[in-house]
Amino acid sequence: MPDVSTLTLNNGVTLPAVGLGVFQTPPDETRDAVTAALEAGYRHIDTAAAYGNERQVGEAIAASAVDRSEVFLETKIWISDYGYEATLHGFEKSARKLGVGQIDLLILHQALPSKFESTLEAYRALETLLADGKVRAIGVSNFMIDHLTTLLDHASVVPAVNQIEVHPYFQQRDLQALHTEHGILTQAWSPIGGITHYRDGKHSSTLQDPVIGEIAAAHGKSPAQVMLRWGAARSVGDPEVDQAGADRGEPRRVRLRPERRRARRH
Ligand SMILES: NC(=O)c1ccc[n+]([C@@H]2O[C@H](COP(=O)([O-])OP(=O)(O)OC[C@H]3O[C@@H](n4cnc5c(N)ncnc54)[C@H](OP(=O)(O)O)[C@@H]3O)[C@@H](O)[C@H]2O)c1
Repeated sequence: MPDVSTLTLNNGVTLPAVGLGVFQTPPDETRDAVTAALEAGYRHIDTAAAYGNERQVGEAIAASAVDRSEVFLETKIWISDYGYEATLHGFEKSARKLGVGQIDLLILHQALPSKFESTLEAYRALETLLADGKVRAIGVSNFMIDHLTTLLDHASVVPAVNQIEVHPYFQQRDLQALHTEHGILTQAWSPIGGITHYRDGKHSSTLQDPVIGEIAAAHGKSPAQVMLRWGAARSVGDPEVDQAGADRGEPRRVRLRPERRRARRH
């Protein structure tokens, strides 16, 4: 696996720009998948309580020669654990299954609009976990503009990320602009458009798109690599590019501008 760029969250914590997600990976295949990913050079694993495979992610990391401190571990609290006390307990459940004392990034899996008060209470629990050092960063997932705006009105810690569906065929530019305004990293799920074909099987794969195919052929890359590169360059909003590194023929590093690295608490 090539050198992977590093991104810096709004509280200074860094994470690899590309990671392995284990959504839809059956528990009995997860350990081997994560083991193979770590051997290939991945240092960021994204799981969720709802995926039912946190235990196997933890087993693979524990068995790996790669030190725990080198792996960025992200998981998500499911809506059935929303509410202040329930979310604190949700952390304990995930940490125990993952076999770790500290989780690098803990996020709310989605907003619960019908019970938004419990969503806000869940986020307040994440703030407590952050203050107690049990997680290194906190965030949300699948929050739309109105969810995020309401959260920002109530939260004391600006979320470090909002993990949302983003790929060249679904760009969510208004939401990404709001992220940029508040120093929230856009973290893409389905970065190569997986959901466009696996959800109903009726759509052709984004990887078969002729435009992506032409770009891939022109650069000697695979369609998946082209889409990941698009995401690295675009989904962080207005990235800085390490031109010096590019001039030396090294992979370009994409990072947030310094003003977006500052913790923004209000
Ligand atoms: N927060 C959320 O609500 C949410 C929702 C969805 C996903 N996610 C996260 O985002 C991660 C990635 O999303 P995703 O799995 O939906 O979509 P994705 O990564 O865009 O696409 C996955 C699909 O692409 C195929 N694929 C992977 N690499 C390929 C390659 N090099 N060439 C051709 N096909 C390739 C896979 O096929 P095979 O199955 O055959 O390998 C799979 O069907 C998830 O694992 C999860 O961690 C989060």
